[in-house]
Amino acid sequence: MKRTYIQDIKVGQSVLLKAWVFELRSLAKMEFLLLRDSSGIVQGIIKDVNLLKRVSELTLESVVEIKGKVKKANVKAELVRSDVEVEILEFEVLSKAEKLPIQVNEKTTTTSLSNKLDYRYLDLRKLKIKAIFKIQSEIAHCFRKFFYDKDFMEVQLPSIISSSSEGGTELFSVNYFEKKAYLAQSPQLYKQMLACSVENVFTITPVWRAEKHNTIRHLNESRQMDIEMAFSGQMEVMKELELVVKYIVKEVLKKCKEELDLLKIKLKVPKAKYISYDETVKLLEVKYGEDLTPENEKKLDEKFPDTIVFVHSWPASLKPFYIMPKKFAMSPASARPFESRPNNVRASSKNSELSEGFDAIYKGMEISSGGQRIHVPDLLIEKLKSKKLNPKNFKDYIDSFRFGAPEHAGWSIGLERLTQLITGQKNIREVVLFPRDRERLTP
Ligand code: AMO
Repeated sequence: MKRTYIQDIKVGQSVLLKAWVFELRSLAKMEFLLLRDSSGIVQGIIKDVNLLKRVSELTLESVVEIKGKVKKANVKAELVRSDVEVEILEFEVLSKAEKLPIQVNEKTTTTSLSNKLDYRYLDLRKLKIKAIFKIQSEIAHCFRKFFYDKDFMEVQLPSIISSSSEGGTELFSVNYFEKKAYLAQSPQLYKQMLACSVENVFTITPVWRAEKHNTIRHLNESRQMDIEMAFSGQMEVMKELELVVKYIVKEVLKKCKEELDLLKIKLKVPKAKYISYDETVKLLEVKYGEDLTPENEKKLDEKFPDTIVFVHSWPASLKPFYIMPKKFAMSPASARPFESRPNNVRASSKNSELSEGFDAIYKGMEISSGGQRIHVPDLLIEKLKSKKLNPKNFKDYIDSFRFGAPEHAGWSIGLERLTQLITGQKNIREVVLFPRDRERLTP
């Protein structure tokens, strides 16, 4: 007999189910079970006296094989198929579960985040938790599909690198035979080299940052969804970011309706707002030359709800070494108007050198940053030195711009950040299967 998934069972059928025991309830002469597989939950009933004698073999979360008859029903339990139930005629325990360390069928108990993460493989059996990761899978799929369909090439880049790509010291070091190496903080330098050879590329990749903070928005291992485009400036790539985020939200609304309902999330396809750094600091009354704080980002969300806010043209001092200073921006793109083109950035802005770098803020949190890059070796060397970095450590990267390099731009979206915001989770760890943070290295 072939296995039937719970979502496919129909009244009158004889079925073979393979499932987990989600709930057990004994009545006088009957045992009620809830059975769960990856497609849903259904009620089962044991009435047979011989089977009832063996009920003690069943424990919560045991894996069972069941033969039964599907009957019409009117079941009133959340998340359970209401239209059918299965009268159990035979059962076999395939793998008996020991006493559970956390509740999977959690109606009254609430498990702490740390406890949940210790037993993530069990936690994931809860439908609300599974819903978060179904949505994350959809987000990553949409990102990939959007750019694949636009003829961007998906590229696989190294995770072990020889020098920092973002400047600063937030790197995990690795013993690499006789040499010292690091875990990649970003695919930045490699995606640029590729854009200068094959034009438009994208990647989804894990990155590692040895930052010591312990916040609800930072991880030490996260996943980035990156693009890099040749012959582009910050305006073009911001527009791509706007389009892909709108596409992702639209598809999540369409394909993950049940999951959004389960999580009680009301989602809207966002609008987009383009605003320069100069205008932003005035609007939020932030001191010119300072980075935006999480509070500033929240204020932007209050002022522009359900909107991706693109804060562009930042002072170069606040951006990494590879971001193009505005005065050298060669791109015809930045001079080209497009529908959402903001007012020209005023040259009067406090003499600080402006750049072609931007941040995108959505639902009160930075989801992405990017910009146009420096593709001129001498300028890059100057910039590295000004940021107290040694150009010798970037030789291959700098040299890659010596043999015909177009202006290019790109960005990176944090997959977990975007999932966190779309699924309405307070702590970013909720949207990572096995988080790596300051304290956590297992499971
Ligand atoms: P940035 O450092 O801003 O830019 O990272 C891009 C996006 O990645 C996410 N992110 C993080 N998520 C969780 N924990 C962290 N510690 C963390 N750090 C970053 C955020 C952020 O907006 N190379 C550039 C991008 C580019 O210019 O193309 C970069 O990595 O959502």
